Amino acid sequence: MTLLRNISQLATCPPCSVQQDAGLIDQAALVIEGTQIAWIGKQQDLPACYSGEEAIDCQQGLVIPGLIDCHTHLSFGGWRGDEFEMRLQGKSYQQIAAAGGGIRSTVAATRSDSSSDLLSKAKQALDSMLDLGITTVECKSGYGLDRPTELKLLKVYRQLNRQHTVDLVATFLGAHMVPAEYQQRREDYICLLCQELIPEFAQQGLAQFCDVFVEAGAFSVAEARQILIVAREAGLGLKVHADQLSNSGGAQLAAELGAVSAEHLEYVDQQGIAALARAGTVAVSLPLASLFLRERYAPARQMLDNGVKVAVATDFNPGSAPSYHLPLAMTIACLNQQMTPQEVLMGTTTIAARAISLQGRIGSLQPGYQADISIIDAGSLNHWLYHFRANACLGVLKSGRWVRKLP
Ligand code: NIG
Ligand code: FE
Repeated sequence: MTLLRNISQLATCPPCSVQQDAGLIDQAALVIEGTQIAWIGKQQDLPACYSGEEAIDCQQGLVIPGLIDCHTHLSFGGWRGDEFEMRLQGKSYQQIAAAGGGIRSTVAATRSDSSSDLLSKAKQALDSMLDLGITTVECKSGYGLDRPTELKLLKVYRQLNRQHTVDLVATFLGAHMVPAEYQQRREDYICLLCQELIPEFAQQGLAQFCDVFVEAGAFSVAEARQILIVAREAGLGLKVHADQLSNSGGAQLAAELGAVSAEHLEYVDQQGIAALARAGTVAVSLPLASLFLRERYAPARQMLDNGVKVAVATDFNPGSAPSYHLPLAMTIACLNQQMTPQEVLMGTTTIAARAISLQGRIGSLQPGYQADISIIDAGSLNHWLYHFRANACLGVLKSGRWVRKLP
């Protein structure tokens, strides 16, 4: 048993609370038994039976559930720093893609990279994410767009999930873009996805979710529907890259199909928001993509006010969001999306868990939950997200075990 004491503020992030209320407790304590949380409450109310336990001094820090980054493109070949400068000079993301850059250039780099290079690069990112207090990461394939490379990416995720402390949840994003060699026969690529890759990867347990990028230049609503229905029949959960660069009906499609999440949503309209609210589909907002593309932000405030649950994630990828710094995304969500610190923390813990169908196991500090816990050098949630630092995380527990030590 382990007792965490001297906690200035603890955020329980209860799974059934409204998003505004992160369940903050001041001057708290927390008890871990084995891999799970056994007790939380005010330190003054600690039951006598726990008071003799091995006690860890949290130095008047903030204690939160281990953060969950519920939308990343973790493994990819190369980088695209040259496009950064092109965008700063005024070229749009779409213009760069049409000129052969963008996703397709990362596909070429990913196809030529070895599994071991991809694995060590993704591992480095995961190590840094864990340093920041992130304990679970959703990771999408989608930079292969052929069987060998999509398989290579999904196997990298499976291997990393086995060997790394951070838990990974894999999503098959073969429908990220139609690869160049199928440009003139896109229906053949959709057949490859539906008849071969989705059934194979689902059957092998290599992915838990299937995602489609619904956008002009990627996939239409009708194509996405066809792909996602096959994925659902194969037993995969559904996600949609929806309304990122234009309003293309992705949010409505996600709601119609009972997707767990619709992600991006910079251009979602009132109809899309109403559909997400009715269906209980989580909206995943990705403020770093808006920051780096200098695009509009998803209307998080409007979605919350209309009863949609809003998760916040990084979208880490080499193009639109070349950063895995989830606390940075959180501070930006407060500043540019009118989310409160409590809403943002809920969006990176219990709501993010819901976006990867792990609610009930992670994302909350309540008895019975997995003891994934981050200790932050801040006296309160407000202070943490306001006093932005490179890394304010003091220590991390994964399943009750110290994986980053408090000094
Ligand atoms: O989520 N929108 C599609 N996919 C990624 C960007 C991929 C890239 O530019 O390489 C995104 O923003
Ligand atoms: Fe993305």
